[in-house]
Amino acid sequence: MTPTTDLRTHYMGLDLANPIVASSSPLTGQIDTLVALQEAGAAAIVLPSLFEEQIEHDAMGLHRGLDTGADQHGEVFGGYFPELDSYNTGPDRYLRTLIAAKNELTIPVIASLNGTSTGGWTHYAKLLEDEGADALELNIYLIAADANASAADVEDQYLQLVAAVRSTVEIPLAVKIGPFFSSPANMARRLVDAGADGLVLFNRFYQPDIDLDQLSTTPNLVLSSPNEMRLVLRWVAILHGQLEASLAATTGIHDAEAAIKLILAGADVTMMTSALLMHGPEHVTTVLDGLSHWFTEREYRSLTQARGSLSQKSSPDPSSFERTNYMANLASYSPH
Ligand SMILES: Cc1cc2nc3c(=O)[nH]c(=O)nc-3n(C[C@H](O)[C@H](O)[C@H](O)COP(=O)(O)O)c2cc1C
Repeated sequence: MTPTTDLRTHYMGLDLANPIVASSSPLTGQIDTLVALQEAGAAAIVLPSLFEEQIEHDAMGLHRGLDTGADQHGEVFGGYFPELDSYNTGPDRYLRTLIAAKNELTIPVIASLNGTSTGGWTHYAKLLEDEGADALELNIYLIAADANASAADVEDQYLQLVAAVRSTVEIPLAVKIGPFFSSPANMARRLVDAGADGLVLFNRFYQPDIDLDQLSTTPNLVLSSPNEMRLVLRWVAILHGQLEASLAATTGIHDAEAAIKLILAGADVTMMTSALLMHGPEHVTTVLDGLSHWFTEREYRSLTQARGSLSQKSSPDPSSFERTNYMANLASYSPH
């Protein structure tokens, strides 16, 4: 009988039992669903993000509270502490979730910070490290809408933020970015030079919608579709072997086939949210069974053997990841 493929993988120095990671979502923000994800076989989880806005809002509330106390009742300042505490719900609750997750789970817990600017809020990275986060994911969700800001300005903003967070923590640091750079490969390299141990490719930017009845803009979250993994596939394949960093694939990974393709392209881990929201945490088991079956049937000893075997560097047709394949692609269209 063929021995079962060893699905273990490394992600930024973390030893994982397999490559399936539950990415940030409401499922990773509650202990019952976190436990269900672990039981289903998820090898690690990323907590939902703590947002720069939450931290800044919290800090403003704290200052307001302190000012009010000082102006009006300096002598009874001590009496304001319980109230100040309640200003702190965002980050405070986040730390409690992290602590509970660490207590309940045996798999690595990756905390997530989400923001765009350097500033006091980045010190929360240290708090997350101190409370036991095994790694940190920094989601830079930046829409470059200022026509006066050049690409270089925007890229500097990313790099400064990564350097700022890197300087506050020693745990592994992943950076989650979108695909919209003029030179994604060069940007990826500079993010790694700035201190990223891993890149999470790619963030999904949620697009606004217009409500024609209310004549207003409205958020309208649409879950990903499986085709969206193709953009990720291209860039994982191109970047594999080019960087001293782990690669995590995210967006559009709904089933075992997608995860297999991304591993062959060069991903160290494959992350899932939409499919887990649609099918529940137990979907992880289905995906893992599919992975194990596929690799074992083809007699791979380990994922390490398979990883990157169809990256751009190793592919029998490296041009398929670049423009040279453009015309062939168009010609391949068939109405059936
Ligand atoms: C409801 C919901 C909440 C999410 N919250 C976060 C978040 O807090 N931080 C983050 O980095 N990504 C967040 N994401 C993005 C996911 O982690 C993931 O990157 C994205 O959904 C693409 O992966 P998928 O195609 O598997 O869904 C969220 C996604 C959804 C659908």
